[in-house]
Amino acid sequence: MYSIDTLLEKLYIENNLQKDELAWLIGNISDEEKESLFDYALKTRRRYYGNKVYMRGLIEFSNICRQNCLYCGLRASNSKVERYRLTREEILDCCREGYGLGYRTFVLQSGEDPWYTAERLGDIIRGIKSLFPDTAVTLSIGERSYEEYKELLGAGADRYLLRHEAASRELYEKLHPDMDFDNRINCLKNLKSLGYQVGAGFMVGLPGQTPQHLAEDLCFLKKLEPHMIGIGPFIPHSETPLAGEKGGTVEDTLVMLAIARLLVPDSLMPATTAMGSLHKKGRELALKAGANVVMPNLSPVSVRAKYEIYEGKICTGDEAAHCRHCIEGRIRSAGFEADMGRGDSVRLNTSL
Ligand code: 5AD
Ligand code: SF4
Ligand code: FES
Repeated sequence: MYSIDTLLEKLYIENNLQKDELAWLIGNISDEEKESLFDYALKTRRRYYGNKVYMRGLIEFSNICRQNCLYCGLRASNSKVERYRLTREEILDCCREGYGLGYRTFVLQSGEDPWYTAERLGDIIRGIKSLFPDTAVTLSIGERSYEEYKELLGAGADRYLLRHEAASRELYEKLHPDMDFDNRINCLKNLKSLGYQVGAGFMVGLPGQTPQHLAEDLCFLKKLEPHMIGIGPFIPHSETPLAGEKGGTVEDTLVMLAIARLLVPDSLMPATTAMGSLHKKGRELALKAGANVVMPNLSPVSVRAKYEIYEGKICTGDEAAHCRHCIEGRIRSAGFEADMGRGDSVRLNTSL
């Protein structure tokens, strides 16, 4: 038995809690106590990042994937997906459009597509950096070898997103029957040691996920101290083995975002598209619970709907310029200010 008020205060002041305390908090927090958790998270993000919300342009350049994550609509076994792969020139065109709209960070995301070797991707990253030297390039392309990560870094990549997905080996193995938990953790360690700004994270509301599992995820983040933390609700996809499962809620995800903000106070945390897909104000609510990044889509409209990791994804028919302005309005309406700069972690400017 713990007092929730005491736990929240300790979390706010010390930026830390034990795993059992976190599990208790997650399992027992009341609606009223959630409001004070969100207030603490908001105060903390303001201390580090003021009112700014960083904008990243997301380019989903290939939906081809060799993996079979149980939850994901792009899994290799889903033969109903119409697969696509953007060319180098198409990717550079997305960046040209994005740069014109003011973006100074591009996030290149794909399934685990082996055709895109480190050499081919390196060539694209060099292309982006020579056209737009004042931009940051973030990769989100899954598990690769140390050597490939090194080559991509050498080509100019600055950041890398690789959600750990589940810090519990048992839950991880259930969700990824053909994948290796140790390899995933090693990838994150390799990325960090090479000098990338690294992002980890997980989904909320996975089947079989308990407060204990979520506490493990949060402790993992506390220990890894990534620069970026991606947390979103699990949304079931009908063409996966998890079709018919319940999925995560906006509310539970907000609680996880707020706790993550307090555990890693200087982190960059997106208000995810998945939040916006579950609730019309989902991203705004995430910003008010501690998130400080948004990642509007820059992919060509012709491929948008094909990048269907979950169903009901928003923005699939909207031009980049439309999303750029839509999201800016939302940021403002939530009481924040859009920032089009590179938006590096404040940790890079300190000795933390
Ligand atoms: N619902 C929500 N998020 C998902 N992801 C994959 N499938 C789903 C889904 N059905 C998340 C994973 C992955 C990120 C790119 O998208 O956490 O790392
Ligand atoms: Fe592939 Fe990523 Fe989907 Fe897993 S989550 S199936 S690695 S696209
Ligand atoms: Fe894409 Fe609102 S952000 S339509």
